[in-house]
Amino acid sequence: MSFNTFGHLFRVTTFGESHGPAIGCVVDGCPPRIPLSEADIQPYLDKRRPGQSRFTTQRQEPDTVKILSGVFADEATGRQVTTGTPIALLIDNVDQRSRDYSAIKDVYRPGHAGYTYDAKYGLHDYRGGGRASARETAMRVAAGAIARKIVPGLIVRGALVQIGPHKVDRAAWNWAEVDNNPFFCPDAKAAAGFADFLDGVRKRGSSVGAIIEVVAEGVPAGLGAPVYDKLDGDLAGALMGINAVKGVEIGAGFAAAELSGEENADEMRMGNDGKPLFLSNNAGGVLGGISTGQPIVVRFAVKPTSSILVPRRTVDRYGRETEVVTKGRHDPCVGIRAVPIGEAMVACVIADHYLRQRGQVGEAPAWPFRTPQA
Ligand SMILES: Cc1cc2nc3c(=O)[nH]c(=O)nc-3n(C[C@H](O)[C@H](O)[C@H](O)COP(=O)(O)O)c2cc1C
Repeated sequence: MSFNTFGHLFRVTTFGESHGPAIGCVVDGCPPRIPLSEADIQPYLDKRRPGQSRFTTQRQEPDTVKILSGVFADEATGRQVTTGTPIALLIDNVDQRSRDYSAIKDVYRPGHAGYTYDAKYGLHDYRGGGRASARETAMRVAAGAIARKIVPGLIVRGALVQIGPHKVDRAAWNWAEVDNNPFFCPDAKAAAGFADFLDGVRKRGSSVGAIIEVVAEGVPAGLGAPVYDKLDGDLAGALMGINAVKGVEIGAGFAAAELSGEENADEMRMGNDGKPLFLSNNAGGVLGGISTGQPIVVRFAVKPTSSILVPRRTVDRYGRETEVVTKGRHDPCVGIRAVPIGEAMVACVIADHYLRQRGQVGEAPAWPFRTPQA
């Protein structure tokens, strides 16, 4: 079986290959009467689009999205809204250069998926990585734009926090800076360092890994499930499902192993608004698989791009030992364009759990959950 669908109530199915005529998706389960046009989706695709700086692949894809179904003009307002039926989205591939891949047609690129596709299906589309190409993730970004419209007040933002050994200074974090540099980096000084470092990596024909942080604010308490389909489990699965992702952590993540119980405890007090206030967020906004109402904080690590100009030892499909060099256009660090992809996956998971919560529980329980007996 090949699973090309994720989500339960907000359900996304993608299709298409890197060098096929088009890529697309069907978003099923979106509630009706939500204003939706291409203009709501395109800005997110523009963030992920290749060829925008010397630090990403030079493939030139406008990634112009078309909505094929699932929308209609609302009689009262004249605005285009969702109808509750499947929303099909399509993006044409316009800048394929399949000849770049003919030299590696029969040769496995170490770190890429050709070998495992052959092991599973007995064949693979070697052009640009075929279905294993991150081109597919454009459709996740498109679906994420719809997901963002489902949860009232939801804000999902991502940032690149580390490239290779170079980390941002968290004290210098400024969300406004993320759109001012080609790295989606929240620290202007670190971004300048990233540029110098990545120029060196690129000129050597090499590549490098990265860490991305995604923060979702405006997530109401109560989303998730207590045992299976925990919110953090679903987030981890969705992020791990992005190409090249090798690690995911929530809140304090792996650093929690070094904390004492008292350091890790997110202590509670009553806030000025009469609601509970957590004094820290080591939990990353999830306790017992259920959202706390605090920001959801997730990080994921991507490996260095496997398509590099440095020769690597490998074998071909006929069982012969050889060496491979991958020419063509590649991202020297896939972590940059992974930022909008990570945001989209987080938005889709939260929208799915929001709809599931609405289906099972309806109105959230009112605070305080109990009144003291006289
Ligand atoms: C935004 C983005 C762009 C990518 N571009 C490339 C690329 O140009 N060359 C490459 O070898 N891998 C690239 N990848 C990674 C491959 O798609 C991925 O490594 C491959 O499908 C094998 O899957 P795995 O690494 O998840 O095991 C990219 C990943 C992302 C997220």
